[in-house]
Amino acid sequence: MSLRVHDDVARQYNSDDGIIAAKNQAVLEGLKQRFGPRAAALRVADLGVGDGAQLQMLTTLACPLAMTGLDVSPAMLRLAAQRVPLTAVLAPAQDAAAHLPHGAFDLVLAHFVLAYVQPRDLLAQVRQLLAPAGVLSLATTVTEGGAPFYAALESTFRHSWNPLRRAIAWAADRALARSHMPADFQALEAELQASGLRCLARRTLRMPVRFDTPDEAYRFGIEEGWAVNILAVPGVPLGAAKWLARYGLRQCSYPFEVTQVIEILEVGAA
Ligand SMILES: C[S@@+](CC[C@H](N)C(=O)[O-])C[C@H]1O[C@@H](n2cnc3c(N)ncnc32)[C@H](O)[C@@H]1O
Repeated sequence: MSLRVHDDVARQYNSDDGIIAAKNQAVLEGLKQRFGPRAAALRVADLGVGDGAQLQMLTTLACPLAMTGLDVSPAMLRLAAQRVPLTAVLAPAQDAAAHLPHGAFDLVLAHFVLAYVQPRDLLAQVRQLLAPAGVLSLATTVTEGGAPFYAALESTFRHSWNPLRRAIAWAADRALARSHMPADFQALEAELQASGLRCLARRTLRMPVRFDTPDEAYRFGIEEGWAVNILAVPGVPLGAAKWLARYGLRQCSYPFEVTQVIEILEVGAA
């Protein structure tokens, strides 16, 4: 995926409310129960750190923190560094263990990166980074809940006579094929087991999302980044891909509603 896409999302990234804020709060509540007061610094690495809002919330834990943020987007790393003191690492999560010390983190965060990184690759990196008894905080949307989106793709785009609609369906199908978002919790659990890990704690958020206009859908899907994979089409300039996304969203019927299902897991060695 082109890095420009993530840098572009960084300009509008919204962790103040909505899904990211709800996820951040749920993660914090779980980690507050797990990590009580301690004098030694909690060593935390956030893979795909984004704007660093989750790390900033962890500063309310009752312990000092030594924080590392890794991301492929320089713009995201800049946002994170403005929020918290951290070691910033520009690298892909699938290569994290080549850039970070092994066995050196009490807590690794990997939130909303499975659209870009194969679970098996991510978990192999995480295993190398975690200290003994270290914990992975994994948060991901699952495809369960997206049925209205898939139905619209089928009925309005895939078989249309209109070549622009079919082009949009092709880009969406390509993005879906490259996304590694699990179907549901069971699929995620199977990945953990295959990687020698197990789920220690689980929370599920079900967040209804309703768009009354194409502009609202564009803000969510493209500007806030939830469906930004669709813009990464080789040879198509970002501006043209955005125009096509806007055009596509104008073809759908409104209001349009989906449910974002978010699995939040604390994971340890099996
Ligand atoms: C949806 S944001 C999530 C940010 C943050 N973890 C959060 O929960 O708010 C996805 C982040 O992953 C980053 N990213 C995308 N592909 C990546 C990769 N292969 N390795 C590391 N980071 C990646 C993006 O730049 C972006 O900052």
